[in-house]
Amino acid sequence: MPGWVALYYDQPIELVSGEGNRVTDSGGRSYLDFFAGILTNMIGYNVPEVRDAVQRQLSTGIVHTSTLYLIRQQVELAERIARLSGIEDAKVFFVNSGTEANETALLLAACARRSDQVLAMRGSYHGRSFGAVAITGNRAWKPSSLSPLNVHYLHGADRHLPVFSGMTDGEYIAACVADLRQVLATATAGDVACLIAEPVQGVGGFTMAPDGLLRAYQEVLGAHGILFISDEVQTGWGRTGDSFWGIGNHGVTPDIMTFAKGLGNGFAIGGVVARGSLMDGLPAAGISTFGGNPLATTAASATLSYVLDHDLQASARALGRLILDGLREQAAPLPVVGEVRGRGLMFAVDLVEPGSGEPSPRLATAVLEETRARGLLIGKGGLSGNALRMAPPLTLTEAEAKEGLAILVDAISAVDVSASAGDGGGQAR
Ligand SMILES: Cc1ncc(COP(=O)(O)O)c(C=O)c1O
Repeated sequence: MPGWVALYYDQPIELVSGEGNRVTDSGGRSYLDFFAGILTNMIGYNVPEVRDAVQRQLSTGIVHTSTLYLIRQQVELAERIARLSGIEDAKVFFVNSGTEANETALLLAACARRSDQVLAMRGSYHGRSFGAVAITGNRAWKPSSLSPLNVHYLHGADRHLPVFSGMTDGEYIAACVADLRQVLATATAGDVACLIAEPVQGVGGFTMAPDGLLRAYQEVLGAHGILFISDEVQTGWGRTGDSFWGIGNHGVTPDIMTFAKGLGNGFAIGGVVARGSLMDGLPAAGISTFGGNPLATTAASATLSYVLDHDLQASARALGRLILDGLREQAAPLPVVGEVRGRGLMFAVDLVEPGSGEPSPRLATAVLEETRARGLLIGKGGLSGNALRMAPPLTLTEAEAKEGLAILVDAISAVDVSASAGDGGGQAR
């Protein structure tokens, strides 16, 4: 296995079973899951509706056919996603991952605009392939600068920088838009293909632009014919609570959206939804052998129905608010906490060194160990690796939200006590 595939925790956890929003490890310890396999087990574990649908498909003997043959559930899922996208005359192409979805979106935009120039956001993460790495603005996830694209990075998810401190949201948006105009006028060679942006930066630590910034960008881009791609791999399907797609929080309907992670509730599926003219604009044949296979699309259909039938978006809004309010009240005042932020069931806490306020990846690691010891799984991220990232299944109950919040506050407080006492932050490594 490659050295660059990292495991969490000093003693890695092997998860062997799951039920509801809880998982059990090989030692028999149970955890409430606030990271859901990186936002992928969107409706939790062992969901009868998904399990039964998949078992029915398995019992037909058909796991794979390829898109050379009609796959009924793929067509039906495409129609549902096209309708939900809000994109006019939309078409959907299925792949197996977020990376592939973004590769496809870039190809659509590059072909439509006959340009290799792409705008991306500082702090972004869009996947691990050659093209996706080329539009990644996060050094920790960027192994090479070699690129099939010409990329310019924009401000928008870097509100925390000292240069922007003291600005109102409106002033920050105006500064970012002025910078975009400057980049277009001076740094590009004209005819930019697209902007790709995550409405809430996932790997970037759930940082996000103030609402309306991406709309302001779209207005400028639209005047130049530049396409807008929203990477909804983490933010889709109602997770942000206020909007079904993360980009809806900015009042934007993009030209193209990409999705993956949660849709299959663990089954590998990703995709692109775009205006039909863009989708059909590729001047050569294309195929994804496994993309949209019968098993993955069956699981995805059942998952999507579950999300919509149970209005999990509303639940994400309510429980996200409950947890964020709790974190702001109980965790934010602690000296080791730099910032609490989030939207719906995507929320983060930045860990800092008490005194200096410097980002502290070691204290974030310590909190991960402390939450584990208390029976809660969480994630990490951010440009400095100091953001605790939490994104439980959308099926989280109110009791579980309160339980997870209490554990989080307790774990952060424990690290705070030892860090403030100067003993290195408890189990900080
Ligand atoms: C916003 C975003 N886009 C794309 C990807 C890549 O998805 P995958 O790992 O399925 O290729 C990720 C993965 O974390 C992501 O967070």
